[in-house]
Amino acid sequence: MKRIVFVCLGNICRSPAAEGVMQSMVEKAGLADAIKIDSAGTSGWHIGEKADRRMRQTAENRGYSLTSRSRQFQSPVDFETFDLIVAMDDDNVRDLKSLDRSGSFAHKIVKMTDFCQNCRETEVPDPYYGGAQGFEHVLDLLEDACTGLMEHLKNAKL
Ligand code: 4NP
Repeated sequence: MKRIVFVCLGNICRSPAAEGVMQSMVEKAGLADAIKIDSAGTSGWHIGEKADRRMRQTAENRGYSLTSRSRQFQSPVDFETFDLIVAMDDDNVRDLKSLDRSGSFAHKIVKMTDFCQNCRETEVPDPYYGGAQGFEHVLDLLEDACTGLMEHLKNAKL
């Protein structure tokens, strides 16, 4: 069993979308019992909220249903629970590393774009204050990265 948590700032746009895209790919691959997916925010600003309506709609249009509620990343329990902690941008990586003062969990922290196979960006940009195109771009990046992450997990024999 592998446990993966996607992390962004608010846990209402990028990381719930990553969770939805990855969950869909995991189910299609018949690996739902082997790979568990979750998401969390470095902030507690939107705790309990559904994903942003614009993110939910954009995902829905591509066949992903986003059902999670925002929660804040909890140290140390989330560091201990998850095998892979996948941050959306460099700020998220920095914030996670500052929660892991001893560096014990540094090997678990990776960036979403590390798994991209086509896109060249090095971060999944925050779409919250932008227009509709930003949400489409987030999903383009997430679909590319989740495809790469699935390959990575299969090569690592899960
Ligand atoms: P997320 O986007 O980190 O992808 O969930 C954001 C959501 C809310 C805020 C910022 C980013 N905010 O400032 O409230």
